[in-house]
Amino acid sequence: MLEVKNLRKEYGGLTAVRGINFTLQPGDIFGFIGSNGAGKTTTIRMISTLLEPTSGTAILNGADVRRDPMAVRRMIGYMPDFFGLYDDVKVWEYLDFFAAIYQVPVRERPAIIDNVLELTDLTVKKNAFVQSLSRGMQQRLCLARCLVHDPQLLLLDEPASGLDPRARAELKELIAELGRMGKIVIVSSHILPELADFCNTVGIIEKGELLAFGPVSQVVQGLHPVRVLRVRYLGTNGDLKHFVEAQQHVQTVELAGDGELRIEFDADEEQQAALLAKIVSADFKVVGFREEEADLEDVFLKLTTGAVN
Ligand SMILES: Nc1ncnc2c1ncn2[C@@H]1O[C@H](COP(=O)(O)OP(=O)(O)O)[C@@H](O)[C@H]1O
Ligand SMILES: [Mg+2]
Repeated sequence: MLEVKNLRKEYGGLTAVRGINFTLQPGDIFGFIGSNGAGKTTTIRMISTLLEPTSGTAILNGADVRRDPMAVRRMIGYMPDFFGLYDDVKVWEYLDFFAAIYQVPVRERPAIIDNVLELTDLTVKKNAFVQSLSRGMQQRLCLARCLVHDPQLLLLDEPASGLDPRARAELKELIAELGRMGKIVIVSSHILPELADFCNTVGIIEKGELLAFGPVSQVVQGLHPVRVLRVRYLGTNGDLKHFVEAQQHVQTVELAGDGELRIEFDADEEQQAALLAKIVSADFKVVGFREEEADLEDVFLKLTTGAVN
């Protein structure tokens, strides 16, 4: 478990991170979202023990980044937002080097290297030179190197930036697999749609403040108390719009194209079910009834406009 407690960083007069708090459990994939300069890298570097907090702390499985940084380092893999790879080094040598840094015993290294190569889908490149890999493969190799000591927490700072859509899809698949292995993964991005679909938890940071944190649906719901319902019906028997307008918890009703209503509704799912039951028992021919997915991107824009220009 990772607990981030009142974590704060000041650089001279500038407060980059303003006392943020959150907790993550094994298997959580946390999308850490914020525009450039919001404080993502600063937060990640403090959790990774590379940057001393001004106050507050982070605790990983009982080890405090301030009091016991060496213990924390053994449990984390950190992929910085830009990475250097070494020339004239083969893929397996590169991984062997990092395994050595992490003090993985020599006799265990070949099997571990084979494992991380398989996980990152680089087995066929084992003997290739690092500089011959595509950008997507280099990114995966970089992630592979963070895995040689089997860390419990992965800190991936903007791993998808600069990748083409296919490389990005492969990276997502790999990150999802790490979650299934029970690791905690923190993955940052300034591009929200990159993350929304494969994270189970999101946090939105702006000007060093964590404006929202929680499961994607909860974050969206918390900022969008109004649900949007879509009802498709066979418009042959009476005025459904009129009927719905008269029901409880209905705020607005609009015709949305042919035979569809868009309803803004301010109550819970029980009430939503009750509304459907009423419509059906009044003999309207409903062929579709669904809640529109609130858009995390809307939420992000709503939260962050005003804070940034
Ligand atoms: N070493 C530093 N010295 C002074 N200010 C810094 C330093 N690193 C980052 N900052 C400032 O802290 C704020 C947060 O930066 P950063 O954590 O890199 O944001 P992000 O990763 O979200 O783009 C920015 O205003 C940035 O200019
Ligand atoms: Mg950054």
